[in-house]
Amino acid sequence: MSENNIKKYVIVGLGSRSDMFSSAILDSHKEYCQLLALCDTNQGRMDWWNRSYKEKFNAGPFKTYDAADFDTMISEQKPDTVIVTATDRVHHKYICRAMELGCDVISEKPMTIDAERNKQIFDTIETTGRNLTVTFNYRYSPRNSLVKELIQNGEIGEVISVHFEWMLNTKHGADYFRRWHRDKKNSGGLMVHKSTHHFDLVNWWLDDTPSEVFGMGRLAFYGQENAENRGVKEFYPRCKDNIYAMKDPFALNLMDGGKLQGLYADVEEYDGYIRDHSVFSQGISIEDTMSVLVRYKSKATLTYSLNAFCPCEGYKVSFNGTKGRIEMDISEMPYVSGSAFDQNNPDFNMSDIDFDFGGLTEKITVQKLWGEPREVEWDKDTAGGHGGGDKILMDDIFKGAGDDPLKRAAGPVDGAKSILVGIAANKSFETGQMVSIDDLFKLG
Ligand SMILES: NC(=O)c1ccc[n+]([C@@H]2O[C@H](COP(=O)([O-])OP(=O)(O)OC[C@H]3O[C@@H](n4cnc5c(N)ncnc54)[C@H](O)[C@@H]3O)[C@@H](O)[C@H]2O)c1
Repeated sequence: MSENNIKKYVIVGLGSRSDMFSSAILDSHKEYCQLLALCDTNQGRMDWWNRSYKEKFNAGPFKTYDAADFDTMISEQKPDTVIVTATDRVHHKYICRAMELGCDVISEKPMTIDAERNKQIFDTIETTGRNLTVTFNYRYSPRNSLVKELIQNGEIGEVISVHFEWMLNTKHGADYFRRWHRDKKNSGGLMVHKSTHHFDLVNWWLDDTPSEVFGMGRLAFYGQENAENRGVKEFYPRCKDNIYAMKDPFALNLMDGGKLQGLYADVEEYDGYIRDHSVFSQGISIEDTMSVLVRYKSKATLTYSLNAFCPCEGYKVSFNGTKGRIEMDISEMPYVSGSAFDQNNPDFNMSDIDFDFGGLTEKITVQKLWGEPREVEWDKDTAGGHGGGDKILMDDIFKGAGDDPLKRAAGPVDGAKSILVGIAANKSFETGQMVSIDDLFKLG
């Protein structure tokens, strides 16, 4: 590839997820791209990555900018594209400012966390004409792509209803209650932060637009009050240096001598980011138990639930169509972001796992009306996080999407469609009423 075709990137938000993008730019996709600089509120975290890039890829060090100097970074470095992997609460800020300064943007999910910020993003796209990509990696996981293909090919006719259950276990699910996600102001709650993946999958599988949402949600397991009601008597604010944490199976040990320690524990002095809150401490404003009903423009319906304290991890989906039914039964490996077995790590490979987590089920069954159930096979490549989706997504982003018949590349409309279901569900939790998505934002 010629020098002129090499795209130039900066990254904003250097937590654990940034690894997938930086490793692609510095290693697996380096012939297509160049990293120019890093931007974060925490200098210690950026320094940790610069040491890691040197060690792993013999690359860098890259110039670092404090978040307050974002504009200076753009004017000095002149990137083509800004990659946003900061906390959800600030995605809109960097998406909009980067576009105003003439850049395209790649943003992690969720695109943003509320209807006001969503509108700001659309207004900025209209005035600047810049491109925004939202990285919905689950679309790329081969099993989810296969279901898209089956539905798109008319295998079960018109989809009339979908039943979707997502289980987060006490390792991975608990992790959202240990750090910034636990405050709805940062993440929009799990309905936005996590379910954006799942609502996007349904929107994309059905090629449809959600119109009305009704939901119920509550914090039923985590948090001090729930633990007290179950008879727990010993509480502590955070795990580090706490004797009660040693007896708590939910405690997270940050002092792992690896990424958790380097990225979080050792650099707390810069911003006071606590990565290991007790999941039974006070200050949680998100739900752990959520049930949602969605009606689509086509009149198809979705019944969805998310539970964050299950003994197992994975998802089950069934699609009822005019010609038959598809069932997915998928278990996933639970992980803690930033830990040794982290699916956000680009080197993640399921076959390297040397401990038993209950084994994997990966089953997709198609049954035509009047027919026998038939199991569908696909290539179960275990390399790369999120069911292999992360690896394929990186090709799409850095080599170019090409003419994908499954239309997996996602933009702002997809980003909005998925978060608006979660935002509407949050509103429905509060009001007890059905919420029309058009009343939040007109999707056009
Ligand atoms: N698609 C996926 O499967 C997936 C997986 C994990 C995370 N994510 C997304 O990636 C993003 C980052 O998640 P993470 O797990 O790496 O979190 P993290 O907490 O490890 O990292 C967030 C980073 O943002 C920085 N930050 C906070 N406020 C900032 C500001 N105002 N300006 C600049 N930087 C700021 C923090 O200092 C930190 O370095 C989130 O939006 C999350 O939803 C996506």
